[in-house]
Amino acid sequence: MSTPCTDEARLSAAVARVLRRHGARREALVQILREIQEHTGWLAPPVLAQVASGVGLTPAIVKGVASFYRFLYLHPVGRYHLLWSDNITDRMQGSRTLAQDLRRLLHVPQGGPSADGLASVGFTSCTGLGDQGPALLINQQHVVTRMDSQRLQALSGLVRDQVPLADWPAHWMQVDDTVQRSGALLSAPPLQGQAVLATQARGVAATLSELTASRLRGRGGAGFATARKWSLCREASVPEGGTRVVVCNADEGEPGTFKDRVLLSQQADTVFEGMAVAARLLGARTGLLYLRGEYRYLLDGLEAVLARRRAQGLLGHGILGMQGFDFDISIHVGAGAYVCGEESALIESLEGKRGTPRIRPPFPVEQGYLGQPTIVNNVETFCAAARIALHGGAWWSAIGTQDSTGTKLHAVSGDCARPGVYEYPFGVSVAQVLHDCGARDPLAVQVGGPSGRCLAEHEFGKRLCFEDVPTAGAFMVFDRSRDMFDVAHAFAQFFAHESCGFCTPCRVGTTLVLQRMDKLAAGLGSCWDRADLDDLDSLMQGSTHCGLGASSTRPLRDTLERFGSAYAQRLRQPRFTPGFDLDDALAPARRATGRDDSRAHLEQQG
Ligand SMILES: Cc1cc2nc3c(=O)[nH]c(=O)nc-3n(C[C@H](O)[C@H](O)[C@H](O)COP(=O)(O)O)c2cc1C
Ligand code: SF4
Repeated sequence: MSTPCTDEARLSAAVARVLRRHGARREALVQILREIQEHTGWLAPPVLAQVASGVGLTPAIVKGVASFYRFLYLHPVGRYHLLWSDNITDRMQGSRTLAQDLRRLLHVPQGGPSADGLASVGFTSCTGLGDQGPALLINQQHVVTRMDSQRLQALSGLVRDQVPLADWPAHWMQVDDTVQRSGALLSAPPLQGQAVLATQARGVAATLSELTASRLRGRGGAGFATARKWSLCREASVPEGGTRVVVCNADEGEPGTFKDRVLLSQQADTVFEGMAVAARLLGARTGLLYLRGEYRYLLDGLEAVLARRRAQGLLGHGILGMQGFDFDISIHVGAGAYVCGEESALIESLEGKRGTPRIRPPFPVEQGYLGQPTIVNNVETFCAAARIALHGGAWWSAIGTQDSTGTKLHAVSGDCARPGVYEYPFGVSVAQVLHDCGARDPLAVQVGGPSGRCLAEHEFGKRLCFEDVPTAGAFMVFDRSRDMFDVAHAFAQFFAHESCGFCTPCRVGTTLVLQRMDKLAAGLGSCWDRADLDDLDSLMQGSTHCGLGASSTRPLRDTLERFGSAYAQRLRQPRFTPGFDLDDALAPARRATGRDDSRAHLEQQG
């Protein structure tokens, strides 16, 4: 654990150092704030003021940016800040009870640190460790996996004794690469220049043709043709003094997925090789990898790979002796915002702003990072592109199905004997994956995370591919002991929590959906609430600004269709019960004005 600065002069010097390291660039604001917080624990007003003056912005703007990100704190947190991963699969493994126990053991109240400032305990969206949960994120730089009550007791003792995190048992913090099945991407050794050399030998135009022939589609969810995206960027004009930009999207925020985490630790070289091949084809000089804040513990390893590649001549000036091929990659660590996985929000975040999705057009391939033509691709897409540059398009398109060529990584978790990453050719059936992972008496599978599809038993013959059930990679298994209302309720909480608030249909809609689900969960729902849920679902279709809002009611729709009885059994109230207590909501106003007429609004009604 880094020691928090207490002394004002030392604090100011630490802030100045971080500012200097980033050249006090405005677009580095999120990085600057995050790095300062690693020293200070939270962002106090004088820190924000010093940063604002350093980067030439008003304190209000800096505060506005900081307040957007859940991992940037404007109030003190405990010196041990412990965040439980809060995906449904973590809950199924007992994370909620463990969290309560930890609060009790450390005397941590709800919503704030312990009185002595030693510890705070909270929840965060899925941390990408569904294969080895329940997981704890500590001071955003460390994770403890496979938490159970024994580990919890020992951990609370270490916190109480203020043992530095560096001295905690190393095996607690070990993140395993649980690869259960490998194919073209995971079984081959990482690439260290072979694909770049193959690109050089074949030529830029011919390599782009190979990529086109491969029919590779993006692995981040939407499945856009990679060759088409890269060609559009290649054709876009570059502003004076600018460059084209290659961005790797390693935000991996969809609950239940963790396949990019495994690629980044096993195949980091191949990811960077794919980015270098893209740079060669586009004539890009700048590369950025957007690493989700929850994967901060991967940063040092990734930086080491980049340093080695620079030393090997695989990055920097004149890559592998090719004159004019200048390209380097830097890593930007996110700060806890699912929406920043959306490519235009991600670019805003890279520019040091709040992660609000942009209005398009212009698309990033025309005007992306700092107004320059930019491609944003998923980690897995870059790995595949590197392999295609080496082995050719025909090799890749011979694997998979007509519209979904190649292999796909699936992050399998939930009620199964062998959670982990499975690589299959596209088109594998859901039943096959369930068989291979040792699923126990499966009732349902959530494919592609909360924004994907929920499938019931009669659909297990479906195939995982763009033609049938598309997926970005999450595969969560639920057995017959699970209540699919609880699953949909957890996903409603996730979307309400992660909505960035920019557009009304999503900001209000996700909250209203959650309120109705809360009401049903509390046994206060009636058929009116069920009808409201249907209305909200229709209302939000096509009216939200980005994909987050658009997909937020999908789990609701899917579970209502397939597991309607889970909702029906909660509609026990014959009459409508208001979900909103007007009297309670007016209490603060009454207190402020010194009024004691709590039922006045009812009397006026009569
Ligand atoms: C709310 C939201 C979150 C997203 N999160 C991710 C993500 O974590 N990783 C990712 O690669 N794509 C994510 N995407 C998709 C990206 O916007 C983009 O389509 C993708 O990075 C393009 O890469 P690809 O063509 O290689 O798939 C997200 C989209 C939305 C709407
Ligand atoms: S749909 Fe939701 S996440 Fe997307 S811009 Fe609107 S409020 Fe933000």
